[in-house]
Amino acid sequence: MVSAAQAREKYDQLVDRYEEIFFYVGTVGQRLVEFAAPAPGSRVLDVGAGRGAVTRAALGLGCSVTAVDASPKMIARLVEDHPEVTGVAMDAAHLDFADGAFDLAAAGFVVQVLDDPAAVLGEVHRVLRPGGIVALSLETQSVGRLGWFQDLTLEFFAPSTEAGPPPPADDSTEQTGPLTHDRLDALLADTGFADVERLSIEMPVPITDPPALWDWLLPRGLAEIHGTLPEDRRAEFHTRFLAGAQTMHDDGGITLDFAATLHRARRP
Ligand SMILES: C[S@@+](CC[C@H](N)C(=O)[O-])C[C@H]1O[C@@H](n2cnc3c(N)ncnc32)[C@H](O)[C@@H]1O
Repeated sequence: MVSAAQAREKYDQLVDRYEEIFFYVGTVGQRLVEFAAPAPGSRVLDVGAGRGAVTRAALGLGCSVTAVDASPKMIARLVEDHPEVTGVAMDAAHLDFADGAFDLAAAGFVVQVLDDPAAVLGEVHRVLRPGGIVALSLETQSVGRLGWFQDLTLEFFAPSTEAGPPPPADDSTEQTGPLTHDRLDALLADTGFADVERLSIEMPVPITDPPALWDWLLPRGLAEIHGTLPEDRRAEFHTRFLAGAQTMHDDGGITLDFAATLHRARRP
């Protein structure tokens, strides 16, 4: 979870490679907009737009799109690619738009990275017209067949440090840890949204070999924790990682269970 300032720094750095690394966002953005089903000409706000996965899908349906993101570089690239879009670098917790300005507010894989999702949902509620729709996608985290990787990181990183793998998501209503789909639905209802609906999507991600798994995990938190190790431990971790991944590869191949949920609700 990141503040708007941290998001700016992180996503500014990722701008050139973002959709190459997170290659599924285009498909999920398309599914999210289809789930929200805006009429042609709808005024759509893409919140945390990134390189424009949701924006592209909304434009494809003939909507008029405003895109905001904490990262000025993401917004600059998005507007370069789609000059018809109004793009503004902005913290989604402080949306500089009038009440009721939009028919649909959509956020692809954003709520999970926010340090205060309730504040952002409150703002989204305010800028939607009565009857307007909010649509959100949330990545479902699961350890799945990467249990060996979790064990390896636990071995190398003391539990008392901040480093370590994210705990697997579950459906508990406890208010700490990664945002779960149940907690997100509850948050939508608490914010005042009605008719909360959810759709699950699964997209298995095949990874070719152990080095490719390393490359896949690097921008997903591995680089940060690996960088905290002393040099000799870093090399040992890498070697052990590749051995663990090779076992996974030999035992049916490296396929990650990528899944997401789409959430839709209406402002009464
Ligand atoms: C995981 S990316 C998703 C990008 C895009 N929606 C997609 O589906 O590919 C999260 C995006 O949210 C943006 N973001 C994070 N915190 C934000 C905030 N407080 N206000 C606005 N944007 C934020 C990041 O800069 C980043 O571009």
